Amino acid sequence: MTGDNLRKLTLENHKNAERTAFLRRILKKNITPYQYYLYLSNQFLMYSALEYYADKLGIFDGVEEVKRSCNLRKDIEELEREYGFETPVVTDAAQEYYEYVINDISEDYVKLLAHLYVRHVGDLSGGQIIKKLVPGSGNHYEFDCDVETLKQKFRKKMDDTLADEAKVCFEMIEKFLKELETRVNDLEEFGYYTTPNRGIVQQKP
Ligand code: HEM
Repeated sequence: MTGDNLRKLTLENHKNAERTAFLRRILKKNITPYQYYLYLSNQFLMYSALEYYADKLGIFDGVEEVKRSCNLRKDIEELEREYGFETPVVTDAAQEYYEYVINDISEDYVKLLAHLYVRHVGDLSGGQIIKKLVPGSGNHYEFDCDVETLKQKFRKKMDDTLADEAKVCFEMIEKFLKELETRVNDLEEFGYYTTPNRGIVQQKP
């Protein structure tokens, strides 16, 4: 059994995540480099915990190219170089996710794999559309091999038993995306504004 059925089992969750205001910013190309920098930095925190423990359990054996942390780091560094960004805001939701991975699922092969389904198979799927819409080089979604082949190979490790934890993962990401949207709106409210073309956070005159 491969993970083909997981799509159906988590369809509602996918719709909810896709509809969040923050992802709509990306789809409408209405995202500033700074907003994307905050997104990436929080993603890096979450992916690095997941990948560290998944590596320890050998989950990436045979599909090492799927790992994303190094590429996320490259995107973050690129935006820091280009715009002088530093010390990103860590959202409560990303912190919660990070602690959940470390404290609750770090030794659970099935649960970790369920999160890799949502994250990494997502990057190999919709991520391929998103990479054309984001600021910077989009290394997050670049793979050193054929995307379809890698996706099929990774899916062979997956089956329906991942569905429940995959839903937990989708819900945690949805929470993160909602909080991130609030944070970027607050930044504007508190006297900062960002524009899609300039990217640099500036004090309002
Ligand atoms: C801008 C928002 C998004 C768009 C436009 C989008 C689009 C897509 C598309 C078109 C596919 C199917 C691609 C294919 O058949 O190969 C897909 C699959 C997938 N997406 Fe998304 N997606 C979005 C957000 C997300 C998010 C936030 C997550 C995870 C939190 C996610 C996780 C997944 C997963 C796991 C799959 C694989 C489904 C499967 O075939 O089993 N997506 N997405």
